[in-house]
Amino acid sequence: MEYTTLGRTALKVSVAGLGCGGSSRLGQNSGNSEAQAIALVRRAVDLGVNFFDTAEVYGTEAIVGLAVRDLPRDSVVISTKSRIRSAGRLVSGDDIIANLEASLQRLQTEYVDVFHLHGVPPADYGHVRDEIVPALMREQDKGKLRHLGITETGPNDPKHEMLQRAFDDDIFDVIMLAYHMMNQNARQNVFPRSQAQGIGTLLMFVVRRIFSDPVYLRGIMARLAQAGDIPQVLADDDRPLDFLCGDGGASSVIDAAYRFARHEPGADVILFGTGSLEHLEANIDSILKPPLPEADIETLYKLFGKLEGVGLDLPTQR
Ligand SMILES: NC(=O)c1ccc[n+]([C@@H]2O[C@H](COP(=O)([O-])OP(=O)(O)OC[C@H]3O[C@@H](n4cnc5c(N)ncnc54)[C@H](OP(=O)(O)O)[C@@H]3O)[C@@H](O)[C@H]2O)c1
Repeated sequence: MEYTTLGRTALKVSVAGLGCGGSSRLGQNSGNSEAQAIALVRRAVDLGVNFFDTAEVYGTEAIVGLAVRDLPRDSVVISTKSRIRSAGRLVSGDDIIANLEASLQRLQTEYVDVFHLHGVPPADYGHVRDEIVPALMREQDKGKLRHLGITETGPNDPKHEMLQRAFDDDIFDVIMLAYHMMNQNARQNVFPRSQAQGIGTLLMFVVRRIFSDPVYLRGIMARLAQAGDIPQVLADDDRPLDFLCGDGGASSVIDAAYRFARHEPGADVILFGTGSLEHLEANIDSILKPPLPEADIETLYKLFGKLEGVGLDLPTQR
């Protein structure tokens, strides 16, 4: 495994981070047992992963807690999140503290390393800053959380507008953002500022459905070609991204996707979500491989560099 420093948090984190949500939820969406999910987390630990991202809404905090409870606490970095709305209403500072306490109980830990506000749309950002963050800072002083984080809502904020406000205020040590081969605008909108301010980055949506479901990808290519956003030849091709695979290139589109994100300057942790031991091992392998050939990266920039909000869908239930 390779490790990096998560921005100004000084946390030493594996560059591959196990995402315990998304469409897989550690296999909880595809019928895997809790014991299988625990085994998956432990396999990740054996392979050197020390970064685990979960959330209240994923329903996997207890699994992460059980999987790592016998390890020295400082050998793992636990990132979890609270919703900022409940029954459609914005939550109060007291509510968020109750949510943090509940997360700590499910995770069986005294503190979390990164506590995020989950999927914050630009319109709710002011409430987060003025009502929720002050309450959490008091908990931070008590040692219940090490660092504050915020995650954007990919499907509703394709230009990363909420993160621009977070950069201006500079109160979050860690951010989670959407970045992938066909959604590259963070290269202009996010990474220059996160790097300048020392804010740690966690990349989500790197594969998601767009690169793990070839039929879905073909549908997206057809829509983009119809809108004139990509060349028609890509929509006419059953395997439009296979130019990335082959001699000296990637072993698969998924391999290409993880490598593309991993080597983006400013990318700290590449989150990957899976319920499969086989995928877990393959993904870690991909994340640790060298960058894609320069010519392929240039082609991806040229073909898709101007796209925005592509493939940022809500999780699918299988
Ligand atoms: N706003 C937010 O806070 C937010 C939003 C989205 C995601 N996240 C975080 O980011 C993490 C990553 O989520 P993501 O959806 O973006 O994950 P991802 O790694 O981009 O994609 C995961 C999808 O690809 C499939 N897959 C993974 N590896 C594969 C392989 N080697 N071969 C074939 N299929 C493969 C998985 O299915 P299998 O189970 O079959 O492998 C799953 O459907 C989440 O778990 C969560 O922690 C946060």
